[in-house]
Amino acid sequence: MEATAQEKTKSGAVREYGEPIIEIAHLQKSFGSNHVLTDFNLSIRRGENVVVLGKSGCGKSVLIKCIVGLLSYDAGSLKVFGKEINQLKQKELDELRARIGFVFQSSALYDSMTVRENLEFPLRRHGKHKSKEEVNRLVEETLENVGLLHAIDLMPVELSGGMRKRIGLARSLILKPEIMLYDEPTTGLDPITAEEISKLMLAMQQKYNTSSIIISHDMHCAQLTANRLAVMIDGINYAQGTFDELKKVTDPKVHAFFLNSH
Ligand SMILES: Nc1ncnc2c1ncn2[C@@H]1O[C@H](COP(=O)(O)OP(=O)(O)OP(=O)(O)O)[C@@H](O)[C@H]1O
Ligand SMILES: [Mg+2]
Repeated sequence: MEATAQEKTKSGAVREYGEPIIEIAHLQKSFGSNHVLTDFNLSIRRGENVVVLGKSGCGKSVLIKCIVGLLSYDAGSLKVFGKEINQLKQKELDELRARIGFVFQSSALYDSMTVRENLEFPLRRHGKHKSKEEVNRLVEETLENVGLLHAIDLMPVELSGGMRKRIGLARSLILKPEIMLYDEPTTGLDPITAEEISKLMLAMQQKYNTSSIIISHDMHCAQLTANRLAVMIDGINYAQGTFDELKKVTDPKVHAFFLNSH
């Protein structure tokens, strides 16, 4: 067992993290002459929420697509649960993906399926022969977690943007993933709904001890959900620390993200 990392929470209690779950070292990814990730380093432990900040187009979505093997990388190392992603065979990659929940930048629900059917979909794909009763119970429990049990028989078109985001979240959470990857989970939402989603993400971390990477421009979301933040600039992890630590950094490249935060 690896040594655990500790962190003092705002209340003074010590929070302990488990073993490293995602380990990224010297990661490089280019598209032709567009060098997106040049030397990116980041490590995330079990139970830890890390927010990645960065300008639009800097490579945040590329990073999480590399983590789930949707994009391959050119050099460096990217290990999830100790396994080098670029070296996995398709079957191993599928097994790994069943342990990872991925909330896309758009909520990407299946429009021809009801909310219930949208949630059943990952269970049928990865859930290993669950009984009808168990599937029903899991769908209902997960919808209850996101406060939308009453929407179970609705079609996606009948949902508001915030509800769609929450259903997208529920669909990723239903397999109780050990890792959650959130790509701008609150973008396009009003501040109240955005805060609800952020609190939901925090509640899921606490309930299931999930490790998460949260990509966000929403500093309130970052402040609420992050145990640690990483600032991506020019393809590297330019600065990292807690919200309060980074807020004090005077380097204008880092400070720019915190201008409007309290
Ligand atoms: N499949 C691809 N093929 C070629 N170039 C790509 C591909 N995916 C991303 N890129 C390029 O990689 C760079 C980073 O894109 P990425 O989507 O990661 O940005 P981002 O940081 O997520 O931005 P945003 O905040 O706007 O979502 C961009 O220059 C983009 O054009
Ligand atoms: Mg993106």
